[in-house]
Amino acid sequence: MKIISNPIKLKNYLKTIDKTIGFIPTMGALHEGHLTLIREAKKENDFIVVSIFVNPTQFSADEDLDKYPRRDDADKKICELAGVDILFFPHVDDIYSEDEVSISSPNIRGYVLEGFTRPSHFNGVLTVVNKLLNIVNPSRAYFGKKDAQQLNLIELMVKQLFMNVEIVAVNTVRDVDGLALSSRNIYLSKEQRNKALLIPNSLNLASNLIKNGELNSKNIIQKMRDFLDDLEILYIEILDREFNQIKNVKLKDTIILVEVKVANTRLLDNLWL
Ligand code: PAJ
Repeated sequence: MKIISNPIKLKNYLKTIDKTIGFIPTMGALHEGHLTLIREAKKENDFIVVSIFVNPTQFSADEDLDKYPRRDDADKKICELAGVDILFFPHVDDIYSEDEVSISSPNIRGYVLEGFTRPSHFNGVLTVVNKLLNIVNPSRAYFGKKDAQQLNLIELMVKQLFMNVEIVAVNTVRDVDGLALSSRNIYLSKEQRNKALLIPNSLNLASNLIKNGELNSKNIIQKMRDFLDDLEILYIEILDREFNQIKNVKLKDTIILVEVKVANTRLLDNLWL
């Protein structure tokens, strides 16, 4: 495995490679969720590039940028063992300069849900993903359905900017107890983690309600709110795949999205119907 930090060097190197490139952008502290994206990419592409870059522009001033987990050595080993061909590991000044061109997330879809509680977040995500895709120029790029709004906005950017990449969505990987894997889970104490299990359980509750014929979004959301009463709920929404609010669940065209705060840790989860 080659480790490259310079974007131009990587771009020039990749130009010499006549293979399909699968790309997995990450912020490191790699876990089984990231590894699943790598495995999916390996099934469909001849050459695998992973990036690790804790992107400062997607954190707001009061967020956990300095505290964000960094496990560079372990991450390098994980990538090597997973059969990654190139690990792109840039420094902040390899990616950003003082006076920057940037991408703005759309006024509606970018400022609801997570974009409502973190208003500049998706500008930062889209700006860095745009840069990373331009550097790597992959055939396919892999993103997790766990971050459903991020995935949706990246798909929208690729479509609206006529970019030449296929975006592949990968199912959420969970721990044995049901909690969606996240680099932020390490912030949770045992007690907080137990509380956090209410999140996947609230989605199971919604799934059971729907199986029993309850399709009304308001009713489902209310029952989930009651169930999550002990936690600080940032939002619970029932949307179609285009991210419009819907009065009734439509099978195969609905996502139920939840974000809660456990102590100071934001946790996201969702259910795709
Ligand atoms: P990060 O949180 O490191 O996640 C990298 C990728 O892994 C994202 O596409 C995310 O959706 C996916 N992922 C995380 N947890 C997962 C899980 N439990 N199951 C399946 N996939 C999972 O998301 C980011 O980084 C950044 O915003 C990034 C896109 C790299 C831009 O900076």
